[in-house]
Amino acid sequence: MERKGREFIVLVVLGLVMSLYMAYAQAAVTVPPESKPLIRQFYKKLNTCENVEAFVRHQVTLHWKVEKNITAKLLKLLYADCMVNGCDGSILLDGPQAEKNAPQIKGFGGYALIDTIKKVLEVRCPGAVSCADILMLATRDALQLAGAPSYPVFLGRRDGLESKASWVDLPSPSISWEQGLNYFQSKGLDLQDYVTLLGGHSMGRTHCKNIRDRLYNFKNTGKPDPSMDKTVLNSLRKQCPQTLKRGQHDPLVYLIPESGGQFKFTNSYYKNVLANKSVLGVDQQLSVGNDDTQQIVNDYASSFEQFRRIFAFSISRMGGLRVLTGTKGEIRRNCRVPNKSHTNTIQ
Ligand SMILES: *[C@@H]1O[C@H](CO)[C@@H](O)[C@H](O)[C@H]1NC(C)=O
Ligand SMILES: *[C@@H]1O[C@H](CO)[C@@H](O)[C@H](O)[C@H]1NC(C)=O
Ligand SMILES: *[C@@H]1O[C@H](CO)[C@@H](O)[C@H](O)[C@H]1NC(C)=O
Repeated sequence: MERKGREFIVLVVLGLVMSLYMAYAQAAVTVPPESKPLIRQFYKKLNTCENVEAFVRHQVTLHWKVEKNITAKLLKLLYADCMVNGCDGSILLDGPQAEKNAPQIKGFGGYALIDTIKKVLEVRCPGAVSCADILMLATRDALQLAGAPSYPVFLGRRDGLESKASWVDLPSPSISWEQGLNYFQSKGLDLQDYVTLLGGHSMGRTHCKNIRDRLYNFKNTGKPDPSMDKTVLNSLRKQCPQTLKRGQHDPLVYLIPESGGQFKFTNSYYKNVLANKSVLGVDQQLSVGNDDTQQIVNDYASSFEQFRRIFAFSISRMGGLRVLTGTKGEIRRNCRVPNKSHTNTIQ
């Protein structure tokens, strides 16, 4: 009797917490940082491409079957597109002076899949769907294939008319935690978004140059970072020699070998932070961030479910950054060139 009563109360409280959480998530998703009027089922409501989501999903699924690391690639593209000058597809534009040729972005992949999807959509629904929306949808689908939850994508973004490498202000992977947070805040995102989106590193890789100081000469001590787990340290030292042979490319290492190598979206990122097993300094610094940060890291490390949900929520917030809607921008015919390429500055 007594036990039943207690269980009931626990359930009620849990229900309340959940409904509050859902209300919070819902309200915030419909009002992204700049609260521009993106809407669900935009193309269906306009009757311009009712099945856009199915067309995109089909192409992403075909691609994912042969290249599982497409998820990490699209996530990086989306991040770079939205953080630099808003989610306007400007990262997709070609040109020597375009964003994609900035040093921080050169070498990113995933463009070919966006081209393929665009070609399909131009046959199915000519001139209707923006490249910025395609990137948002494709990333959602690729994340889901890797184990993230599906989430509603608000649509109606239009494509930017130009792209400039000089706009690219993405910070280097070797920044400090505070610098990373400041960067997110300067874009209109908050601490929760920052800690949550960093979890995307569960599928990421980095060049050794970004961690060599942690492995060999931490803060000019001539020694490795003392906080780094010894097994991880030894394994990374093997993969990242202190000096490269002539002509040797700087190797890439997985940030979370257990998930990155498996192309899986997981919460191992947060477990590794707690176990001092992070590869990048900026990631490990989450373990010594402020109280709110530590609370979030603990929550995500112990609950994949919570991490998955809030990840979807933060991606949606990022997807609302400085979007072009209404009559601003255009619907590009080809994601690599503006419709009237002679009137813009990139060539
Ligand atoms: C993507 O994964 C394939 C193996 O499936 C690998 O050969 C390739 O190097 C990876 N590319 C990148 C950029 O991660
Ligand atoms: C760009 O081209 C597409 C396809 O021809 C067209 O539907 C759209 O209106 C054009 N946008 C602008 C701004 O010219
Ligand atoms: C991680 O490193 C910190 C600081 O160096 C230390 O206080 C803590 O005990 C370590 N935790 C584990 C699980 O090794």
